[in-house]
Amino acid sequence: MAGCRASVDLYDRPVARVFSGIQPTGDLHLGNYLGALRQFTRDQHDHDAVFCIVDLHALTVPQDPHELGRRTLDTARVHLAAGLDPSVCTLFVQSHVHEHAELSWLMECTASVGELRRMTQFKEKADKAPEQEFVAAALFTYPALMAADILLYGADRVPVGADQRQHLELARDLAVRFNHRFGDTFVVPAAAVPTVGARIMDLQRPTEKMSKSSVSPQGTVGLLEDPASITRKIRRAVTDTEVEVRYDPEAKPGVSNLLTILGAAVGEDPAQLARRYQQYGELKVDCAEAVVALLEPIQARYAELAAEPSRTAAILAEGAAKARAVAAPVLEQARAAVGLLPR
Ligand code: TYM
Repeated sequence: MAGCRASVDLYDRPVARVFSGIQPTGDLHLGNYLGALRQFTRDQHDHDAVFCIVDLHALTVPQDPHELGRRTLDTARVHLAAGLDPSVCTLFVQSHVHEHAELSWLMECTASVGELRRMTQFKEKADKAPEQEFVAAALFTYPALMAADILLYGADRVPVGADQRQHLELARDLAVRFNHRFGDTFVVPAAAVPTVGARIMDLQRPTEKMSKSSVSPQGTVGLLEDPASITRKIRRAVTDTEVEVRYDPEAKPGVSNLLTILGAAVGEDPAQLARRYQQYGELKVDCAEAVVALLEPIQARYAELAAEPSRTAAILAEGAAKARAVAAPVLEQARAAVGLLPR
């Protein structure tokens, strides 16, 4: 890989480095789990894995200061409940490692306005904002911070859902450009997007992705939601007026989404699964059962962790120390490469 150097292994294992992040902007949902978090729990066993609750990213849209800290801690708890094991991976809060904000500036100086303007997530969010609404400059420069997050850890693999692909391509471009201009400094990262579940759609509006900021609570399945409510939402999921169960995301987005969710939950191909069903009702029943079974152990572990709040905080403190040990020398190398005076 161009401009690639070996990762420093936190645990003395000859493995590739994995890095990813999730924003603490709302309750994590099934899309976050199937697209990203579940990959994290798998990757931690055969990679040197670093995961981050990206609270600085959350500030790109208005946050209630009384809520942000609580949400950050809670998001970390959901990561642990989903199966992250702090004895084999690193979990920390972005703002606890100041190197992120600092490298972000160097990345803003490496990215062009044209590149940032092409980011579809920015265009979507900025376009959705009503005429007079405040749109933070940070919403525009956000992909530079995301690149900094990844590059600080020398990550070669970044598990994400499909909506982050474009940001990952930018992170790659910035790493290559920086290395080209200033000498070999950063590992060039690659996105790892799951084959099934990379884009889970809203149950009520199946042409839009399931989202934390959704205005459609009936279309979103929270990871901590109670089984009866999950079952109700899946049974009421929007399908279409046909009767045939077929995997065809273009023509049949609702049914295809249910097949994708079921397929991701049970580890089968959605198109193959479709052949087993004659009716939408049966598919919905099986899909709801599979999701409830998938989330049950996560919910049980979450309840245990919530009963012991200091445990998660201690894990995050330890994680920040481990993360800083990797990030600090990489930042120093980047500072030196661009010619900043040593401090
Ligand atoms: P965020 O917080 O929006 O989402 C977290 C992860 O969940 C995935 N995801 C989905 N996957 C499938 N279906 C969906 N409906 C769905 N919705 C969300 C996202 O792709 C993501 O992997 N910019 C990032 C956070 C970030 C980051 C990073 C990620 C900041 N720095 C560095 C990787 C590496 C974001 O807003 O994700």
